[in-house]
Amino acid sequence: MQMVSTEASPAPELSFAYMLAGVCGMLGAAAMLVWQPEALLTRWHPAALAAVHIFALGGLMPVMLGALLQFVPVACGLSLPRWGWGDQLLLAALMLGVATLAEAFLSGSTTWFLLAGSLLLTCLGLAGLRLAYALWQQPTKAELVASMRRSTWALGMTLTLACVLLGILTQGWDLPLVVLVDWHAQWGMAGWVGGLVASVAGVVVPMFHVTDAYPRGWTRAMQMASLLLLAVGVAAWWQMGDVVTGIRVLLCATLAGFGVLTALRVRKSRRGEHDAFHWGWLGLAVISLIAAGLALAASLLADPRWSVAFGVMMLAGFGGGAINVMLYRIVPFLSWLHWQRHNAARARLPLLHQIIPEKWQRVQLAGDALGIALLTTASFAPELTRPAALLLMASKLMLAVLLAQAVRSYRSRLALLKTLPPRVRT
Ligand code: HEM
Repeated sequence: MQMVSTEASPAPELSFAYMLAGVCGMLGAAAMLVWQPEALLTRWHPAALAAVHIFALGGLMPVMLGALLQFVPVACGLSLPRWGWGDQLLLAALMLGVATLAEAFLSGSTTWFLLAGSLLLTCLGLAGLRLAYALWQQPTKAELVASMRRSTWALGMTLTLACVLLGILTQGWDLPLVVLVDWHAQWGMAGWVGGLVASVAGVVVPMFHVTDAYPRGWTRAMQMASLLLLAVGVAAWWQMGDVVTGIRVLLCATLAGFGVLTALRVRKSRRGEHDAFHWGWLGLAVISLIAAGLALAASLLADPRWSVAFGVMMLAGFGGGAINVMLYRIVPFLSWLHWQRHNAARARLPLLHQIIPEKWQRVQLAGDALGIALLTTASFAPELTRPAALLLMASKLMLAVLLAQAVRSYRSRLALLKTLPPRVRT
């Protein structure tokens, strides 16, 4: 099992800021669907494209970047260069870029697309290069580093294809738009979101659920998935329809495999506690299986609503769900770790599950799961879009409030601990 060294964990304030911004981004994407509920009628609706990118770039991305500031040093033992105020500037540029891209999709304006592209590709390019520098700076055989390298590569492919899509939409480049949009979306949702969640699961599920590690075969399946993502785009470009369908079925099987392996490990947990973290990861395993089924339907059936349903379940369910569950572990863990570092007075500290009340974690996660299920169903019953999006807005707002309260108590307790005289051993 991958060993972690919490000694390497930098002060968490910056990570907390990225995480809170991300939760607000997810809330913003739900608000877009409340404002324009007809967005789920087609994947090409401007409000759908805006909501996808507000969620992916303004929701998932900031939380993942904030978590990586901790995860890379702690879990990989690799130092991620810090840029001081540059890190805050990067977050501001990212969120401004997301708002600009959403406006570009809604207005179709070339100027907004170019402005959004330059802002987003600059800040995500820099963040990606920093991550790549940390992950490739020293030769290592560790599977975790290898899988995070694959996710970074997937993000690179997503952004490169985003450049090409901007070239088609703003410069009229004569390239097959739908083929490239599908490839861009696959690298973004399967390669980057799917890859990063699977990488983190490989560490936190065995460690925090006190259960078996994922089998060697799974590592090979993840390695194969990156190659399949490369092949599916090339096959689509050469209009090899059957090959494309075959590869998509294999990718669905990989996602279903993650669901089954994760469910088995959580069920076999030796921790014995069935808390929000337990049900959260079990829920994520079920979401993986449903998303795999929807992806299979979208690949084999002509009805375009299946791909809309898959997009909702993969982004809001798999990506948003994994982040939601992990935030309830990351924020209390980092708070406790850094209180402990300044606790020379040996004052009594709250337990992890007391930092964000367990009861409210369950309520928020249940509301989120219901919102995701309703929004996915709304792909076939559009009248459900607004109530589902309102429920998701309420659940993300509750998550933001719970996290903000935890961050405020982190700060006030840290300030108190720093004023207490060290306990003298008698
Ligand atoms: C710099 C960042 C990005 C830019 C500029 C960008 C731009 C675009 C553009 C121009 C389209 C095609 C829209 C159309 O056909 O009219 C698109 C589609 C899409 N993008 Fe991005 N994208 C970016 C990052 C991402 C990321 C990180 C994800 C991750 C999940 C993502 C997911 C998608 C999806 C799922 C679609 C297809 C939507 C659909 O067909 O329903 N994008 N993107």
